[in-house]
Amino acid sequence: MLVKVKELIEEVNQFQSTNIDEIESFRIKFLGKKGILNDLFADFKNVPNEEKKEFGQYINTLKNAAQDKVNTLKESFENAKGFQLKYGDLTRPAEPIELGNRHPISLVKNQIVEIFSRIGFTVSEGPEMEDDWHNFTGLNLPEYHPARDMQDTFFLQTNPDMLLRTHTSSVQMRYMESHQPPIRTVSPGRVFRNEDISARSHCIFHQVEGLYIDTNVSFADLKQTLLYFTKEMFGKSKIRLRPSYFPFTEPSAEVDIYWGLETEVDYKITKGTGWLEIMGCGMVDPNVLKNVNIDPTKYSGFAFGMGIERIAMLLYQIPDIRMFYENDMRFLEQFKSVK
Ligand code: DAH
Repeated sequence: MLVKVKELIEEVNQFQSTNIDEIESFRIKFLGKKGILNDLFADFKNVPNEEKKEFGQYINTLKNAAQDKVNTLKESFENAKGFQLKYGDLTRPAEPIELGNRHPISLVKNQIVEIFSRIGFTVSEGPEMEDDWHNFTGLNLPEYHPARDMQDTFFLQTNPDMLLRTHTSSVQMRYMESHQPPIRTVSPGRVFRNEDISARSHCIFHQVEGLYIDTNVSFADLKQTLLYFTKEMFGKSKIRLRPSYFPFTEPSAEVDIYWGLETEVDYKITKGTGWLEIMGCGMVDPNVLKNVNIDPTKYSGFAFGMGIERIAMLLYQIPDIRMFYENDMRFLEQFKSVK
């Protein structure tokens, strides 16, 4: 008998539940009218007299333990219910968080910057509102120079000497004013031209300018640097430099990469030639170096400039430049998986 009561005490102590039905069944099982305790009290008269005292103590212990257990379990159930009312079910799955993604222009810009940073180029920036000197005159484009017409300019009404920069070449001027060679820097940024908006051109777009000045920099260094870039950026390892003209470089060249003619798209974007023009470049004109007090007899260097939209359109097969600026979520969300 006593052994059984001890086992029951153990069972009561072990019992745990947060379910109100289970707690109630437990209460009925032990403390109910037809429960274990009432049975035990009924059996009490059959217990031999000398054991009565000890047996009685054990049944009382069992009764108190069962009562305490029911009380504490009910209490914690009530607490949990209050908590749940306040916070809801804390185990429920969380609301999904909508993650944004980078704009394709930023993706391409970051990629270009990263490729050049691997070979020691820093990143520099300059103002979008520029003066005539940094955008034109200092870059060997004096007033009335015919090449100014190549870049239809927005001038500021309040100050005729100020304009919205037409290219990021203005940043080379500023960088050379404040740094001594050796110089290796790329300057990404927004540029502005008073052009009609179409599928191919926009009045606001982005460029990355590159500048390298040191002793003994040659045209071969320029070509090798650009070859490294086109390999990393496009996975293409054939380029050609076509003679061209820019006022701030001499000699100047246009860089074409060999894109190939494997698919119909390749035919379309290269107009059947396999070649694609991607940037302008050249050796920095000695006049430009003089304008920033760098001695052209001691130093030489190269510069290059490319349009980010054009490269992004090529890489992602985007047919219309206006898509970059419309902020249509259906367009932007397509770049979610691009790192
Ligand atoms: N600034 C030129 C443009 O906007 C691009 C360019 C060409 C930049 C040749 C350069 C360069 O630094 O050397 O079209």
